[in-house]
Amino acid sequence: MKLKINSLPAWLIVVTMVIVLAVFIGKAFKLDNPFAETASVDEFLQNHWTYPIPAQGKPPASFSALEASLDPASCGECHADQFAQWRSSLHSHTMGPGIGWQLQLVDMKTAQSCLRCHAPMTEQLALFSQQRGWSNSRSTPPDYIPENLHQQGLVCAACHVRAHVRHGPLASKPNAERNVHGGFEEHEAYSDSRFCANCHQFKADGPRINGKLRENTYEEWLATDFAQQGQHCQSCHMPQRQHVWRGIHDKEMTRSALGVELAAQPDAEGVYQLEAKITNSGAGHHFPTYMVPEIVLYLEVLDAEGRVRELAQHTIAWRVNLALTEEIFDQRLAAGESVSLHGKLQNIANYTQLRLRIHVAPRQHYVRTFEDYLPHNRDKLQPETLSLLLQSIRESKAVEYEFIAAELAIGRVAN
Ligand code: HEC
Ligand code: HEC
Ligand code: HEC
Ligand code: HEC
Ligand code: HEC
Repeated sequence: MKLKINSLPAWLIVVTMVIVLAVFIGKAFKLDNPFAETASVDEFLQNHWTYPIPAQGKPPASFSALEASLDPASCGECHADQFAQWRSSLHSHTMGPGIGWQLQLVDMKTAQSCLRCHAPMTEQLALFSQQRGWSNSRSTPPDYIPENLHQQGLVCAACHVRAHVRHGPLASKPNAERNVHGGFEEHEAYSDSRFCANCHQFKADGPRINGKLRENTYEEWLATDFAQQGQHCQSCHMPQRQHVWRGIHDKEMTRSALGVELAAQPDAEGVYQLEAKITNSGAGHHFPTYMVPEIVLYLEVLDAEGRVRELAQHTIAWRVNLALTEEIFDQRLAAGESVSLHGKLQNIANYTQLRLRIHVAPRQHYVRTFEDYLPHNRDKLQPETLSLLLQSIRESKAVEYEFIAAELAIGRVAN
């Protein structure tokens, strides 16, 4: 009888491959363990961020079902804070409707290229392939792999677990318990910006627009004073090791990026010159770092009745065309860089307040792209794909917000 490889359960093939691999890697480890604490950060990360992350394989026999499980909720049984924080972060939403509808239309090669950052484990790729019908295996995964692991996005295990071994930063508790899940391996790479660069920095040969890499956050950071002072991505995005990863979607985080100064000065003719100076003083990279968000600044005055008059407006963004081939403008603020808005008033006595209002659209580029795509393709899409696309447009608009960044009483200036 001829053995048909297609009829073997996919999990068995994976497990077999892992055993073969483990024997190889096991030998290699004895000579030179790339995960060893003494490995340099670059060496460690080169082995840590291979794609796809190799299948974990069969859990050690000594593990309980809870210790073996790759489900974030299982990690959360013991690491409750990290789980609650991660749930509130965008890292647990990297497989949301925005990427979801696109993944239903692409081929396997393209999907893999997306999953590298959005759901990087072999187990996730296998489940996703099963869902798309690319793998004809109908078998259910073993207990330690939850059936929806691929939908849960950038899960704990993707950053922390390799071959069922837990890896983490240098322990914050000196006498941490070491008898759960076989203990853990520590490495300084977890506290280093290069850990994040795997997904937040394109390689030098990656896609560019007008000569600039589309994702360049790590390089931008390297050029800042924060890098000089050893303030890594984690110090702003994971304060006290919290798994929150707040960014441009969060009002207080955006506020913390900006220094704002308002001024109202009469000139020789008694005409008031009004100015707002906005500085990127708190983001450890360009504000914003990607082409996705758009931030609009409004310099305004208010009268005693609260009526608003706009004096000036300015957009901070890196706007590109929808085909991602051409730059329309790049008005991002590099770290430390400033921009000023100016206005003039003859009769300042009519007004009581000068202010800077800021409107933030964290996903503007996607809104524009998806809204352009929709009318031409509506009829061609499967109902499920269409519904994900509509949901993602709705959600991408719902995350927009505004705030008053600074105000100055000007009535008294005039008196
Ligand atoms: C049965 C409880 C339990 C489960 C389940 C569990 N852990 Fe742990 N883990 C511990 C304990 C206890 C420690 C020791 C340090 C401590 O007390 O926080 C630890 C340590 C760690 C560390 C090292 C922390 C450091 O200081 O460097 C990491 C990383 C980690 N676990 C990740 C995970 C992940 C990821 C999962 C799920 C895939 C998981 N753990 C599941 C109990 C658990
Ligand atoms: C995007 C990658 C990433 C994901 C996803 C992630 N972590 Fe972490 N985790 C880190 C990094 C990086 C650190 C170290 C931060 C530092 O050194 O400032 C860390 C630290 C930890 C620590 C040590 C905390 C301490 O106070 O010493 C534990 C425990 C942990 N993570 C568990 C989890 C659990 C549980 C999940 C899922 C609910 C999770 N992590 C998801 C990257 C990640
Ligand atoms: C190098 C890592 C990387 C790769 C590869 C990658 N992405 Fe992303 N993706 C990101 C990061 C980082 C963000 C967050 C950007 C932001 O919010 O400004 C993101 C955000 C998104 C979003 C917006 C968030 C949402 O869920 O609505 C979509 C949609 C998306 N990516 C689709 C894709 C698709 C489709 C592919 C494959 C063709 C892909 N990505 C490949 C890193 C990556
Ligand atoms: C000094 C603090 C600081 C450091 C260091 C820092 N960031 Fe940020 N980051 C911010 C602030 C504030 C925002 C919100 C404003 C913005 O979007 O620029 C932000 C926003 C972001 C965003 C949202 C998307 C966007 O287009 O802006 C991402 C992604 C991000 N940071 C990743 C990183 C990575 C990766 C590193 C390390 C290479 C890093 N950050 C270093 C403060 C910091
Ligand atoms: C395996 C890939 C991967 C790694 C590693 C990773 N990220 Fe992310 N990160 C993503 C993706 C994908 C998104 C987009 C989530 C979305 O919008 O759906 C994201 C989103 C973010 C955001 C939210 C940006 C916003 O728009 O508000 C911040 C901040 C961030 N990451 C910081 C970090 C930091 C700091 C590290 C290192 C400790 C890190 N990331 C490691 C893939 C990764």
